[in-house]
Amino acid sequence: MPKAPYRVCILNRRFYRNIGSNANQTRLLAAGGRPWRECAIVGTKMSERIYNFSAGPATMPTEMLERAKAEFLSVRGSGMSVMEISHRSKLFDEILEKAEKGIRAALKVPNNYRVLFIQGGATLQFSMIPMNLLSPDNSADHIVTGHWGALAVEEASCIGDINVVYSGGENGFSDVPKQGEVRFSQNASYVHYTSNETVDGVQFDYALDAGALPVVCDMSSDILSRPIDVEKYALIYAGAQKNLGPSGVVVVVIREDLLDWAPRRLPKQLTYKAYADNVSMPNTPNTWAIYLLGLMCDWLEEQGGTEGIEKVNREKARLMYEAIDKSDGFYKGRAKRSARSLMNVTFSLPTPELDAKFVEEGEKNGFSGLKGHRSTGGIRASIYNAFPLKGVELFVDFMAEFERKNG
Ligand SMILES: Cc1ncc(COP(=O)(O)O)c(C=O)c1O
Repeated sequence: MPKAPYRVCILNRRFYRNIGSNANQTRLLAAGGRPWRECAIVGTKMSERIYNFSAGPATMPTEMLERAKAEFLSVRGSGMSVMEISHRSKLFDEILEKAEKGIRAALKVPNNYRVLFIQGGATLQFSMIPMNLLSPDNSADHIVTGHWGALAVEEASCIGDINVVYSGGENGFSDVPKQGEVRFSQNASYVHYTSNETVDGVQFDYALDAGALPVVCDMSSDILSRPIDVEKYALIYAGAQKNLGPSGVVVVVIREDLLDWAPRRLPKQLTYKAYADNVSMPNTPNTWAIYLLGLMCDWLEEQGGTEGIEKVNREKARLMYEAIDKSDGFYKGRAKRSARSLMNVTFSLPTPELDAKFVEEGEKNGFSGLKGHRSTGGIRASIYNAFPLKGVELFVDFMAEFERKNG
């Protein structure tokens, strides 16, 4: 019997409910009775879930959410939700310690670095970093390769002198500098860059070497997506809502000697030292987010850690960019090939109207969150750690079909 072609079912919520527990079958009869070999629904647990390409908050592993669900009313058999227990309790100490250990293990954090959980988003880090590390006699060197790097400059400039030593603005933020291409200032307190620009879809594929200058890196959208050498950085920070879990907590990995750099008159709550001295709890932390972050680290370990997940991430990105490249210009990638992000694939169709139609039809086919950032337009498909390979395989089929009908 000839195999039925791969197709992506048009899904709507009523349809999911109708097929109910059969949602895990790979061969489904669509409404018209035509056989499908594959469908955007995979597995019973996914029966209420679709493929979510959102840039953040982003998709999380279903298994991890199931685990959180199972413990929602009674975390670790305590009879209380994690959101109901005191952050000063032994139970929460254990939860926080687990999250910290998870990050330490996943990133192989050396002993002379501290792992801190801070609120205020990665955006607060844009100013908290200069508040702590920028000496009034010096400037900070910033490399700007996209939207977030530009915002970092804007915020840091409220605190001190910022030197933009590289800006990709002229090339429409489609590229990143090569190693050694940027000249740094002699008197810089530190160098700041963004390893992956979430909006523009450009990523460094190397750790920036700034000689003797401390390197500070915003890894909000690619932390834990591949192995890194923490020792190449003085400070790494990342908002959690992509590869680390939910929004509401930022992970800061900071070399211990930097903890004493803050000026004496800086309010304690804005110093890294306050978080380091108080196990990330100078005030009430986001207990729920920290708990989920610990579960996310468990899940990552089950995927083989950053080494394991990198292989999957590379395969997902390869499939996506291949679909763009073989479309003969119907899909136009935004980033230069050498700077293409493994996490945020940005492209556009021949007209804004087709972009909109693509997003709309994608949604109908079970692919959500494809609309590009408001500042760039086009399409953005974010394929963070938790985005399944299967979803990408189905999506590239959808791309080919859309091109066939509209190209
Ligand atoms: C690279 C990068 N930096 C900073 C931010 C800002 O994060 P937040 O909204 O948590 O402040 C984002 C958010 O998407 C980001 O992608």
